[in-house]
Amino acid sequence: MTVDLAVRLRDVVGPAGVVDDPAGMSGYLTDWRHAYSGTAAAVVRPGSTAEVAAVVALCRGSGVAVVPQGGNTGLCGGAVPDSSGRQVVLSLTRMRRIRDLDAANQTVTVEAGAVLRSVQEAAAAAGQLFPLSLGAEGSCTVGGNLATNAGGTGVLRYGTMRDLTLGLEVVLPDGRVWNGLRGLRKDNTGYDLKQLFIGAEGTLGVITAAVLKLYPAVRSRTTAWVALPDPRSAVDLLGVLRAHAGDRLTGFELMSRQSVDFVLRHVPGARDPIAGVHPWYALVELSDTLDDAGLDAVVESGLAEAFERGAAVDAVVAAGAAQAAALWALREGVSEAQNREGPSLKHDVTVPVSRIPEFLERTRRALADAVPGIRVVTYGHVGDGNLHHNLSKPVGGDDDAFRARAPELSRVVYDVTHALDGSISAEHGLGQSKRDVVVDYKDALDLDLMRGIKQLFDAPGLMNPGKVLPD
Ligand code: FAD
Ligand code: MLT
Ligand code: ZN
Repeated sequence: MTVDLAVRLRDVVGPAGVVDDPAGMSGYLTDWRHAYSGTAAAVVRPGSTAEVAAVVALCRGSGVAVVPQGGNTGLCGGAVPDSSGRQVVLSLTRMRRIRDLDAANQTVTVEAGAVLRSVQEAAAAAGQLFPLSLGAEGSCTVGGNLATNAGGTGVLRYGTMRDLTLGLEVVLPDGRVWNGLRGLRKDNTGYDLKQLFIGAEGTLGVITAAVLKLYPAVRSRTTAWVALPDPRSAVDLLGVLRAHAGDRLTGFELMSRQSVDFVLRHVPGARDPIAGVHPWYALVELSDTLDDAGLDAVVESGLAEAFERGAAVDAVVAAGAAQAAALWALREGVSEAQNREGPSLKHDVTVPVSRIPEFLERTRRALADAVPGIRVVTYGHVGDGNLHHNLSKPVGGDDDAFRARAPELSRVVYDVTHALDGSISAEHGLGQSKRDVVVDYKDALDLDLMRGIKQLFDAPGLMNPGKVLPD
């Protein structure tokens, strides 16, 4: 970065808004898993949309690439700069205001750097619900959620971030501000431009604010932990509970025994809810807007039918909020627990729910053939078809040997996913980790159209280069 650009950036955001000393920048240059690291000319922290626009225009004028970053909890290296030392990380974390909450319209307008949990809390304070929920909600931001089209545990009932968004404000790669901040549920005046920025992982512009949908607050909740004989039973149980609870089935997560073992080993205070060892578990949540919705009776009738069909072998229904939280902690603890088992390979795939058993059987066989003793850590949002099918090295295995096999092992998972009409990324995105491999699993015309859109928005290729689009 030239001295002139550094001076001009400081003029825009103030001296404290530009961080360029190695110690100050370090937290922005490595991802949550320590799987990706880069270097940067500077980290710039604007405090308003006008400042973001000025920073982007200045960088563009100097031919400097910009890497947007929110909470830096992404799992595919999308928010980490390259190793040239010439890119600027644009952190949105100072832009965290809740600009407006319109209870009658059931919308909240928030800045992109707002932490997801703060948006949930603002909604709750107004007697409403913002339903996006994920393990990183205490540190991920709305901008990151939008840029990755985040999913999480409520998708079954409420959809992904795309479904929860009505409007966006975006600074385009040339510094112009696109104001699409409207809170309308119906608008048929042409192309729905906001959808281009959702899931674009910062390659088409910097999201600075959004209008998000709210829902009535949940007043009763029932959570159950169910032991299953096999994955087919998970699909069966899902169908049974849907039939009993309808839309009140708001969470359905799967966990393999391997995932549970990792959590029991690494998360302090974690306890096995059910005696004995079972190969699979489902974490089930029913919720309702009524105070006394009789959800325990609904889940119990569903479970009774599942036991009769042999789709469940044991179950615990949480006796209160504390026990429910402990069950959810088992589920949310897997990412952190797996990190502690050494290098891991993440796969956030999706297949049609009906094909999950076949997916698991085919990958199990192929992975065991490739690396005897490999630990397959499967868990995730089975209610919407999305599995986290992660891999850890065999017990006592060598870290580097495992890392060297990574591309080949990912191919095993992706080939089966593709053969079953699935997608190689259900929620984390392509970032750096999947951008090269996607060419083998996405239609060439899809990729051509994506390149055309990138060219239209960002011909010089300065907005988060090296992410999403294969060279
Ligand atoms: P970052 O990591 O900072 O950035 C992610 C991407 O978005 C990057 O490409 C970045 O350039 C871009 N970006 C960030 N802000 C902007 C902006 N304002 N404008 C344009 N582009 C931007 N994800 C799920 O979908 N479901 C889960 O259940 C889930 N669980 C997780 C659990 C844990 C423990 C962890 C660590 C992560 C989990 N994630 C999950 C992944 C991650 O939390 C999400 O992808 C989240 O949406 C990222 O938000 P962030 O603010 O941290 O974004
Ligand atoms: C989750 O659902 O816990 C995350 O998306 C998965 C992960 O960390 O791989
Ligand atoms: Zn997930």
